[in-house]
Amino acid sequence: MADTVTRPRSPISAEDVAAVRQPTTRARMLPPRVFHDPAVLAYEQAAWFGGGWVGVGREEDALTAGAYFLVEVAGQRLVVVRGDDGELRAFHNLCRHRGATMVEEPCGALVRFQCPYHAWVYDLRGRLRQPRHTDTLEDFDLAENGLIPVRLATWQGLVFLDLSGEAPPLDEHLGDLPGHLARYDLGALRRARRIDYDVRANWKAIVENYSECYHCPGVHPELNRITPYNLGEYLPGEGPWTGSWMEVIGDFETLSTDGATHGRPAIAGTRPEDHKRVYYFVLWPNLLISLHPDYLMTHLLWPQEPRRTRIICEWFFAPEAMAELGFDPSDAVDFWDLTNRQDWRVCELQQEGTRSAAYTPGRYSAIESSVHAFDLMVADRYAEDGITTRVDRVPKPGRNGRVARAGGGNGARRPA
Ligand code: FES
Ligand SMILES: [Fe+2]
Repeated sequence: MADTVTRPRSPISAEDVAAVRQPTTRARMLPPRVFHDPAVLAYEQAAWFGGGWVGVGREEDALTAGAYFLVEVAGQRLVVVRGDDGELRAFHNLCRHRGATMVEEPCGALVRFQCPYHAWVYDLRGRLRQPRHTDTLEDFDLAENGLIPVRLATWQGLVFLDLSGEAPPLDEHLGDLPGHLARYDLGALRRARRIDYDVRANWKAIVENYSECYHCPGVHPELNRITPYNLGEYLPGEGPWTGSWMEVIGDFETLSTDGATHGRPAIAGTRPEDHKRVYYFVLWPNLLISLHPDYLMTHLLWPQEPRRTRIICEWFFAPEAMAELGFDPSDAVDFWDLTNRQDWRVCELQQEGTRSAAYTPGRYSAIESSVHAFDLMVADRYAEDGITTRVDRVPKPGRNGRVARAGGGNGARRPA
């Protein structure tokens, strides 16, 4: 069927990424071609974004029967909709008759799906009702002509899709990440703001940037005064994710324009030590989770071109906090909008610089092992040789020479 995603062969060989798959103290960064070559992005879209679980949105956008939102994954246009039986489902957004797009508005509520072309009707579970003038057709089974379903699962209020239909269950994809967030109910939080960014950089450069705070003193003076770049710990774990936390110092309470929460209570489930921490997680391939004492921020990354990424950044708060008279999330949103833009600028500089024929892959500093961990997820997948490279964390220098715990292999299996 023309609508399925075909998985091409990797354009990057194990040899091409051999220098990445070394201990961090010896490794080199990804070959520059992976940031620029359209064939590489085509492969990543089909094999990674279309070949396994990807975060696409929030359950809160489809809570009641008929509520839906549209997403595009690996060039495939999809609709996520709540059925009249309460089940959340995803379908390809196209009619089985002549293939017209079914739904055009990015979100809303439906009673049923009705094709705008010849008015074929499907119910909220994707089942085709008998179309006009089809009752004399031979070998035409309504049950075989419903909307084409896409595999869907949820975790912590987040919606994930697997276009391939063949990935291991979502729980397996998440590894032991859920354990790190089990004390929270992030699905109960509600979106207060969303900002979309169109960044002139490869999506992997953006994940690399998110994975380190080596750049923070120079690029983010506002952030670095609240959570200094060298204070924090890696979170060890299994699965295609990386995690760490950073310390909120002194009298500061959270990451906001003045470092204050403005009376917002801590998110339910927060432990005493979490009041002075900001947690950062990268979940392969496209979801960034930033958990503050009083709010959650997520980034979803959608590659558009090798040098262009659409980023959806959203801020979520406890509904009780949002119900307070005068609730205003601007201090958190403005803080991160500034920080985001500072990040996008340096990502764009990396994108431009690595176009040069003179650039050869650089080295990882001692506080970039999470960058290396992500690059290893990338490199192992390009290599397609079944080997998952273990991450050797370089101990982090901290306050008074304190050395942060060297975490295990985020994104890697522990050696047997
Ligand atoms: S294309 Fe949908 S009814 Fe004809
Ligand atoms: Fe940054």
